[in-house]
Amino acid sequence: MIVPAVALRAPSSAGLPALLLRPWREEDVPALVEACRDPAMRRWIHQRADDGAEGLRWLEEQRRGWASGVRFAFAVLEEEAAASRRLVGNAVLKMPRPDAPSSEVGYWTTAHARGRGVAPRALEALTAWAFDTFAASGLERLDLFHQLANEASCRVAEKCGYPLHTTVPASPPAHPAPGHLHVRRLAALDPAVPDPRTGCR
Ligand SMILES: CC(C)(COP(=O)(O)OP(=O)(O)OC[C@H]1O[C@@H](n2cnc3c(N)ncnc32)[C@H](O)[C@@H]1OP(=O)(O)O)[C@@H](O)C(=O)NCCC(=O)NCCS
Repeated sequence: MIVPAVALRAPSSAGLPALLLRPWREEDVPALVEACRDPAMRRWIHQRADDGAEGLRWLEEQRRGWASGVRFAFAVLEEEAAASRRLVGNAVLKMPRPDAPSSEVGYWTTAHARGRGVAPRALEALTAWAFDTFAASGLERLDLFHQLANEASCRVAEKCGYPLHTTVPASPPAHPAPGHLHVRRLAALDPAVPDPRTGCR
């Protein structure tokens, strides 16, 4: 399935700027490399870019993901003023195959943007887009993994209607330490779960 590159928006709320989610571009590479210098990124994120060359390789991997329909990564930008946008994070949907019933979401935010709900708002936009785009081809659930010690990520999952599903043992290299699996289902299949389009709790 060829998925057209799209831009997603999270409206401004509680005085916070609106967010724009769009596919990564070459112009984002310096900010990507800067974001990857942060200790929390180095602790929790494995696919990083430590310099410009790695940044370009990382970017190429995201482009291939869009082209092959298995990985949809969005740069998350804060719209501060009409012509001013700054990179505040990444939100990604990882599909094992285009017609898979379940897929995985991931995210990070830049150190300076944390604690202002950027990740939940970006994840909500990604979740709504994923179900809107792929439910017709069979997508029923979205999985979210984080390591047990990553309490900030656990909070993001809970705030976005991804309840804890189970605790999973370590399984290197993808999951080097035990973690939580949180799951959000397509609301139509499970009325007990909030509709993905109604926003974070
Ligand atoms: C996890 C992460 C994405 C959360 O993003 P965010 O935009 O800060 O999300 P929120 O603003 O909703 O904050 C989530 C939690 O982070 C913690 N937090 C709050 N302010 C913070 C700050 N200034 N710095 C770090 N963490 C903070 C709080 O526990 C908060 O939960 P609360 O809202 O119940 O108080 C971000 O911390 C991050 O990118 N960490 C490094 C990469 C990572 O862990 N990615 C996820 C891998 S599974």
